[in-house]
Amino acid sequence: MRQIFAKKPLKVLLDEVVSENRLRRVLGPVALTSLGVGAIIGTGIFVLSGVAAHDKSGPAIVLSFVVSGFACVFAALCYAEFASMVPVAGSAYTYAYATLGELFAWIIGWDLILEYAVASATVAHGWSHYFQDFISILGFKFGHVISNAPFDFNTTTGLLTSTGSILDLPAILITIIITVILVKGIKESAGFNAGIVILKLGIVFLVLIVGAFYINPANWHPFAPFGLSGLSLFGKTILGQTGPGGAPVGVLAGAAIIFFAYIGFDSVSTHSEEAKNPKRDVPIGIITSLVLCTVLYIAVSGVLTGMVPYNKIDIDAPVSNAFKQIGLPWAQFLVSLGAIAGITSVLLVMMLSQARIFLAMARDGLIPTKFFGDVHEKFRTPWKSTMLTGVFVLLLAGFLPLRVLADLVNIGTLFAFVIVCAAVMIMRKTHPEAERPFRAPFVPVVPILGIIICIVLMFSLPEENWFRLFGWLLIGLFIYFFYGRKHSIMHRIMNEKNSDSLHVNKDSAANP
Ligand code: ALA
Repeated sequence: MRQIFAKKPLKVLLDEVVSENRLRRVLGPVALTSLGVGAIIGTGIFVLSGVAAHDKSGPAIVLSFVVSGFACVFAALCYAEFASMVPVAGSAYTYAYATLGELFAWIIGWDLILEYAVASATVAHGWSHYFQDFISILGFKFGHVISNAPFDFNTTTGLLTSTGSILDLPAILITIIITVILVKGIKESAGFNAGIVILKLGIVFLVLIVGAFYINPANWHPFAPFGLSGLSLFGKTILGQTGPGGAPVGVLAGAAIIFFAYIGFDSVSTHSEEAKNPKRDVPIGIITSLVLCTVLYIAVSGVLTGMVPYNKIDIDAPVSNAFKQIGLPWAQFLVSLGAIAGITSVLLVMMLSQARIFLAMARDGLIPTKFFGDVHEKFRTPWKSTMLTGVFVLLLAGFLPLRVLADLVNIGTLFAFVIVCAAVMIMRKTHPEAERPFRAPFVPVVPILGIIICIVLMFSLPEENWFRLFGWLLIGLFIYFFYGRKHSIMHRIMNEKNSDSLHVNKDSAANP
C-alpha cells in the first residue's frame, strides 16, 4: 500500500536531470514551439473536421473548436506549470509520480500510450487518406486491397463493416520511414520538423486566404443543425439529439471528436530534457503553439463550412476536397501536398513523444529498463523503444479503422488532462514552497474548469470508448501488479530503507 502511493520526491526528479545517460540539450523556444505546432496541426483539422462537420456539428463546428480549445488551454496552463517545475522527460506521467504516487503514475503512463502511440496510428491513417487523394490527382491509384483497414465504423448504423481491404499499406510505409528518422536522432528530427511546419502553416494560410473568396454565407445556415449540446452518459443521451447508432450529436459531440486536432501541445513537455532552458522555454512552447493553432482552427473550420454545405463535406480529405468542389484543382493539389507534409510532422512528434514516455517509465523501473531505457551510444536516442513504438503503430495503423482509433485516443488524452489539472492543485497544497518559474493563473479555477470540460467531453464520446478505456486500464493494472510494482526503483529504495531500519533495530537491541 505504502509503495503504490509512494511519491517520487521532487528533489530526486531534479537530480536525475543532471545525471548520466541523458538526452542532448539542443532545443530553444522556437524549436519547441515548432515541435508543438508540428504535433498539433494534422489529421484532426485535415481529416476529422470533415466527420465532425458532416455528422456531428454542421457549421457550428466552429463552436466545437472553441469548446475543445478551452479544455486544452486550461490543461495547457497546468502542463506548463509542471513542465517548468519538473523539466524532465515523461510529461503527465512524471507529474503524477511526483504528486499522486506510483500507481497513478503508472496508470497515466499506460494511458499516455493511448495518447501517443494510438494517436500515431490514427495520424498514419490520415496521412494515407491524403496521400491517396494526392496520387489520385496525378492519375495514380493504390489497389483497393492495400488502401484501407479491413473494417470501418459505419456512422449510419453505428456498426463495424468490412471495407473489402486487407491493410492500409501507405500508413504502414510512412510509419516505417518515420521510425528510421527517429532512431537517427532528435537534432535531425527537429530540423526536419521545422521545415515541414513552415510548409504546413503556409498551406493553412492558403486555405484561409483563397477559401475566403469562395465563402457563401448561405452555407452557414442552419448554423447548428444537430443542436448546441450533445452530451451522453455511457451511451444515453442526456442533453441534445441522438444520432444514428445511438451516439450523441451536436456541438459537444463534435468537440469530443475534433479534440483530437489539439492533441500534441503537451508533447512539448516530453521534450523538456532536450530543451536548452526548459523552465522558460517549455511553457512558452506549450502555450504559444496551442494558442496559435486554436485561432487557425476556428478560422479554417469557418472557411471550410462557408465554402461547402456541411452535408457535402467529404469525410476522407475534407479540406482538399472543398477546393475540388469549388473548381480549383491547383489549390486541391497544394492542400493535399501540404496536408501530407503536415501530417508527417505530427507523426514524427507523436512517435518521438511515445519513446520519451517509455524512457521515463523505464528509468523508474516500471517497465524493463534494459530495453526501454537503452539510449543509443552514437545517436543518443532511445532507439529500442522507438523501434518497438514503430512496430506497435504500424500494426494498429495497418489494420484498425481511423475513427475507432481517434475516439480511443481522445478519451485517453482527456483522462490524462483531468489528472494533470488535479495534480497541479494537489502540488500547490503539498509543495507550496517549490520553485514555479511558470505559475498557472487563477488556481484552482483554471484546473477545475479544465477538469469539468474534459469530463464533459469524455461523456460526449460514444459509450464503447469508456469500455475500451477501462479495458486498457485493466490490462495496465495487471502489468503493474505483476511486473512494475516488483521492479520499480521506488520498491527497491523502500526495501533498502526497511532493511536498514531493521539492522539499526537489531544493533540497538544487541547494544542496549
Ligand atoms: N493533433 C494531431 C492531429 O490532429 C494529433 O493530427
